[in-house]
Amino acid sequence: MIKVTNLIKNFDELEVIKDVSFEIEKGDIFGIIGQSGAGKSTLLRCFNGLEDYQSGSIVALGKEVKSLSKKDLQLMQKDMGMIFQNFNLLNRLDVYDNIALPLRFWKQDPKSEENKKRIHELLNLVGLEEKIHSKPRELSGGQKQRVAIARALVMNPQILLCDEATSALDPKITQDILALLQKINQELNITIVIVTHQMEVVKQICNKMVFLKQGKIVAQGKPEDLFVSSNEDILDFTGNDADILPDSGINIKLFFTNSNSKSHTITSLARDLDIDFDICQGKLENFRGRILGSLIINVEEKDEQKVLDYLKTCNVEWEVL
Ligand SMILES: Nc1ncnc2c1ncn2[C@@H]1O[C@H](COP(=O)(O)OP(=O)(O)O)[C@@H](O)[C@H]1O
Ligand SMILES: [Mg+2]
Repeated sequence: MIKVTNLIKNFDELEVIKDVSFEIEKGDIFGIIGQSGAGKSTLLRCFNGLEDYQSGSIVALGKEVKSLSKKDLQLMQKDMGMIFQNFNLLNRLDVYDNIALPLRFWKQDPKSEENKKRIHELLNLVGLEEKIHSKPRELSGGQKQRVAIARALVMNPQILLCDEATSALDPKITQDILALLQKINQELNITIVIVTHQMEVVKQICNKMVFLKQGKIVAQGKPEDLFVSSNEDILDFTGNDADILPDSGINIKLFFTNSNSKSHTITSLARDLDIDFDICQGKLENFRGRILGSLIINVEEKDEQKVLDYLKTCNVEWEVL
């Protein structure tokens, strides 16, 4: 759907995107995560031609974005809805007319039977039918974002770009909006790209992610693998507490990742080897319903080899700290 290859983007002297490559496939909920200033929004804006780029390539929906004529670029933008942190609704228009704005741009009658039906379907999808004639000032933040989502979908795009769409919302409302995005992905088969500095957002709904740091990708893959691994940039970002571990014995960190979420490894280790060990630290988290994470155990030195030999048979990743 969107293939980025060796992308470089400058604002004058400032190099903001530094040789970035990755691919977003149809059906993904793809996360672009990183600290403020990392270049996430700029990258997203390159996808739909709101920013140009100096070198490298972005092939979106089969076409090189940079080489599109103005008209073809508009057609591409029609195929990529976008939502923002601050919703960008027009205050003087009611909910219906806000959702209808892109129709007006494309010279369609927002009150035609077909478009009325379309807007009612969208209002139903985002759960705002009773608010059809409300003005933005009468809506909560979550409701405003729902209107923005409906507006972004009104032209039937294939891709929805979300720039910090939940950053201005409280945690409960964030959950609701994420659930709605997931539903849009699954039921309407729309590919979603999520730019965020909130790790929770990526953990909850993204199936793939890139971690951007100062314009470079420092990690990419599945969130459930990246957040439980020991990538230093990610640990930094997630504010991992310095591990305080016993200085006697051997500390072994076990990773319960995608392929091996077998929590019984620990109990069978104790049972099969008939040894004692301490669990020093555990970090288990919920990734779209699967419990994954890491656990640090401390074993006596005399048991080290026995335990490592056992772990090799367990389909679990581990490292001695
Ligand atoms: N229009 C612009 N002109 C000049 N510099 C910009 C512009 N937009 C963003 N920047 C700079 O590019 C860098 C990345 O910004 P941005 O993409 O907004 O990061 P993020 O979305 O990750 O917070 C920042 O240093 C920012 O100041
Ligand atoms: Mg940004």
